[in-house]
Amino acid sequence: MGSVNAGLQESIAGVREVQAFNREEESIDQFKRTNAANRDANVRAASFTSALNPVLEALGYVALGLVVVVGGLSVLRNEPLLGTEIISLGTVFAFLQYIQRFNQPITQIAVLWANIQSAVAGGERIFGLLDTEIEIEDQPNAKVMPQIQGRVEFDHVQAGYKSDQPVLKGVDFVAETGQMVAIVGPTGAGKTTIINLIPRFYDVMDGVVRIDGIDVRTVTQESLRQQIGIVLQDTFLFSDTVMNNIRYGRLGATDEEVIAAAKVVAADTFIERLPESYQTVLGERGSGLSQGQRQLIAIARVALMNPRILILDEATSSVDTRTERLIQKAFEQILKGRTSFVIAHRLSTIRNANLVMMLKDGEIIERGTHQSLLEKRGAYYDLYMSQFRREEEPEPSANGSSTETVAK
Ligand SMILES: Nc1ncnc2c1ncn2[C@@H]1O[C@H](COP(=O)(O)OP(=O)(O)O)[C@@H](O)[C@H]1O
Ligand SMILES: [Mg+2]
Repeated sequence: MGSVNAGLQESIAGVREVQAFNREEESIDQFKRTNAANRDANVRAASFTSALNPVLEALGYVALGLVVVVGGLSVLRNEPLLGTEIISLGTVFAFLQYIQRFNQPITQIAVLWANIQSAVAGGERIFGLLDTEIEIEDQPNAKVMPQIQGRVEFDHVQAGYKSDQPVLKGVDFVAETGQMVAIVGPTGAGKTTIINLIPRFYDVMDGVVRIDGIDVRTVTQESLRQQIGIVLQDTFLFSDTVMNNIRYGRLGATDEEVIAAAKVVAADTFIERLPESYQTVLGERGSGLSQGQRQLIAIARVALMNPRILILDEATSSVDTRTERLIQKAFEQILKGRTSFVIAHRLSTIRNANLVMMLKDGEIIERGTHQSLLEKRGAYYDLYMSQFRREEEPEPSANGSSTETVAK
């Protein structure tokens, strides 16, 4: 049943991919296969239980027959039973009763057996889940993270997802309070892995991540994450109203504060055009909105949260360049004196960063300001030439232009 449900859930959730690649037949075939396997297992279980019942019943009658014949003959002939002692008719009757009493529970267990088996199988899955080890746990003596100022330090950090394959191989940098740090590099270089370590979604294998000089492993996760705002690559919205989705950033916020936050990140224009404005109920995972609109809501959420450290992981990749610039202006206001980490593919975002880090295969191969890295004519320069230059061509001046194309 588990495989049938999992397969079904996957093909329904991925229905667009199935259609786009014309894989309906395969999906149906696969469903038929798992379904047939489920049916076969059920048939086997049913045959087993149905066969067991008559067998047990037959055995019961054989036992009855033996008692009647052996006991009956012994009484009739007045001979000791099996060479022990002479028995009365009453004893034979008593034994007939005992046999029935003895048989009844055995037959019942046989009937229950199938149920017990499926309960054990289900229990195995549930206990497997319950027994999953928690990877990140507060230390027993974890302290509460004091009000974060914003100095983030990576001290020779090695990290990864499998113990024998470090993704980050010795990452070392300091982001001073109030700085904006941009991380660039090819896909799979480890950009997301770096930012996952700041709110301690994962632990380092070696080295230390410190915020304001405090090792993030020594404080409670709650007090740490409360002060860090994150917008991830794939945003997640709940099937609730737009208002409540933004309020998720700070549950106590009033409607006015939610609307103000949406205004700050330029999300209010599209929200007001929704059928029921802020009260519009979104579908599962935010369906009914474009990818860019979902990102705007997720960004409004962190704007409402007003964090000490902000992390944007390709958070503006699906909004147009003009909106992106509005969002950045807004964050410049919100984040005055706070620290931000931005992973982005657009030059307009990176150019203003205090520190640009070029990551490759889990190592920082270049760092500096946009300008100093260009002058260096190294890897960043090459990336810039191949990826970013198109953005600047329409208007090479520093303030960029609305005709910027999306470089991806
Ligand atoms: N949850 C995970 N489990 C195992 N490996 C992962 C996981 N997430 C990322 N990786 C691996 O870590 C490397 C870096 O990934 P990531 O930091 O997401 O790259 P980027 O964000 O720069 O594109 C990739 O090679 C990827 O395969
Ligand atoms: Mg990433």
